[in-house]
Amino acid sequence: MKHDIIEKNIGLMIALILLAISFGGLAQIVPLFFAKQTTQAIEGLMPLTAVQLEGRDVYIREGCHVCHTQMVRPLRAETERYGHYSVAGEHVYEHPFLWGSKRTGPDLARVGERYSDAWHLAHLFNPRHVVPESNMPAFPWLFEQTVDGSKTPKKMRALRSVGVPYTDEDIANAEASVDGTTEADALVAYMQQLGTLLKHTR
Ligand code: HEC
Repeated sequence: MKHDIIEKNIGLMIALILLAISFGGLAQIVPLFFAKQTTQAIEGLMPLTAVQLEGRDVYIREGCHVCHTQMVRPLRAETERYGHYSVAGEHVYEHPFLWGSKRTGPDLARVGERYSDAWHLAHLFNPRHVVPESNMPAFPWLFEQTVDGSKTPKKMRALRSVGVPYTDEDIANAEASVDGTTEADALVAYMQQLGTLLKHTR
């Protein structure tokens, strides 16, 4: 039988196994190169403003993503609670993604415009002031520190080099627009835009 030849020749078997696996792998990977859905921005998507971008860096520095995901899964229980499920095209300007995997607190992918700025500030200063049963840590130092705008243009240029469409004008105005902003205000500006695009269009 022909099969005996393969079974008795381990070198040939390894080669054929690798061939079979690589076909399987290619069948999964190759279509992704052509699937625009995952690489194209959804309509109306704008890069973060300088202030929002600095707020996002505060979010990362403080480890907000360790307790909060930014990824609404396409399951009924999730969409009822948070709104439209997350789509890849909302995140194409994000480097790195903050989808996360652990939800000690609620998902924040669509938290933009859900609360007022004042609510967010009170909540960041001490979550217990607005949510008595909260076990989220307080972040009072964000109200004392201001954002260092001298690095903002560099960050924007780095993002532009990986495809985020910042204009020269955005970059030229960045430092002036963030200077003097407290970290708390920048963080709230970042949160208030999260997920709002799909909230308005669908
Ligand atoms: C140790 C885990 C933990 C960390 C770190 C954390 N949070 Fe929370 N967060 C929670 C929990 C738990 C809740 C739910 C209770 C509440 O609303 O305070 C929450 C609630 C929230 C809410 C309200 C969400 C909603 O839909 O009601 C926002 C906004 C929020 N967090 C933002 C942040 C930001 C910004 C940071 C970083 C500065 C942060 N969190 C860090 C645990 C955390």
